[in-house]
Amino acid sequence: MIEGKKIALYVTGGIAVYKVVDLLRELIKQGAEVRVAMTTSACEFVSPLTFQVLSKYTVYTNTFTEDNPEVVNHINIADWSDFSVVAPLTANTLAKLANGIADNFVTSALLATTNPVFAVPTMNANMYTNPVTQENIERLKTRNYKVMTPDTGFLAEGYSGQGRYPEKSRIIEELESYIHSVSNALPLKGKKVIVTAGGTKERIDPVRYISNDSSGKMGHALAIEAWKQGADVTLVSASQLESPAYIARVQVESAQDMQDAVLKEFDHADAVIMAAAVSDYAPVKMEEQKMKKKDELTLQFKKNPDILKDLGQKKKTGQVLIGFAAETHELLNYAEEKLTAKNADLIVANQVGVKDRGFNVDQNEVTLLSKNNPPRTISLRNKSDISAEIIEWLINFMN
Ligand SMILES: Cc1cc2nc3c(=O)[nH]c(=O)nc-3n(C[C@H](O)[C@H](O)[C@H](O)COP(=O)(O)O)c2cc1C
Repeated sequence: MIEGKKIALYVTGGIAVYKVVDLLRELIKQGAEVRVAMTTSACEFVSPLTFQVLSKYTVYTNTFTEDNPEVVNHINIADWSDFSVVAPLTANTLAKLANGIADNFVTSALLATTNPVFAVPTMNANMYTNPVTQENIERLKTRNYKVMTPDTGFLAEGYSGQGRYPEKSRIIEELESYIHSVSNALPLKGKKVIVTAGGTKERIDPVRYISNDSSGKMGHALAIEAWKQGADVTLVSASQLESPAYIARVQVESAQDMQDAVLKEFDHADAVIMAAAVSDYAPVKMEEQKMKKKDELTLQFKKNPDILKDLGQKKKTGQVLIGFAAETHELLNYAEEKLTAKNADLIVANQVGVKDRGFNVDQNEVTLLSKNNPPRTISLRNKSDISAEIIEWLINFMN
């Protein structure tokens, strides 16, 4: 989301300025081009030189330092940027922005900005809850601003309250979500994609189950990648892995739960990616109480629903169907069979039972099999890179 974006970072004079140094580093690490402007008060907390060295660009602090006769700097940065971030945003600058005051470089540039602005208000709790501050926040929200809610906790003043600068991970997550919501040019914008992930659990009794080694890493990486390309994603996950707050998630346990959850969304979906390792069998009966130890135990299993086959053969009305074939042997033969038998558009074949790929590791090597095309192998690499290739296939197929 952030990669390749031109971001204007406006820093105003709060105690949290030192934390924005780390935010700048993160934005650059994620591939953004960042230019920084600071208020005079912000310069009291951290020297502009720090931001200059990290952004590798002159830091703007004065409206009238016009070093380039060809441009007016505060207009130039406003026109150049794809997005602006104001962090920390002081109560003072917030009030100025809400009222259209342009009396320094930061407020002048922001008044000239027509692109989306993401603001991180950070201040004393009493300043934050003051009705005038709240009114100013509401005003900005009706314009091109997304205003974050500050954290609650121990403040620099020595007492607890709302107004703290949020964790960097929360800022990045909300910023990505915001960029996603305002980006119209993404290839999967307006498309609904369902992704399943993880190994289903089939209960034997309230504390025991059978399952498989799938961690859900591949499915979760695919959900994130589809979302990054603009899709409205529902992740139906049987995994215990965390997923970003911006992705709608339905937590499931058994194959039956997973099928129910997928069918609920299927009619409105444009694509389904079945990356979950669905258990083929489930115990015929789940004991209601924990089973007591016996000398011998025989369990009877019944066949689980074949979700992909059911979608491909009975339910499909134009949705793109992507399935996975996880095999220990004869990988490509089984995958070819699956492509036809399930009426899928793509089968992603991956070897399991090998240490460095497949289930429960960060890497994978896969072969993409689709109708009327020769198999294409994507060599061993990170699951997020593999996901990017699969989503690229989906985008091309949809076009
Ligand atoms: C030590 C110290 C910490 C401050 N922290 C904050 C803060 O976190 N948030 C805030 O709104 N103002 C804070 N202020 C007050 C602002 O610096 C002051 O309102 C200033 O005028 C803001 O200028 P600016 O909005 O142009 O950057 C702090 C002031 C001092 C002296």
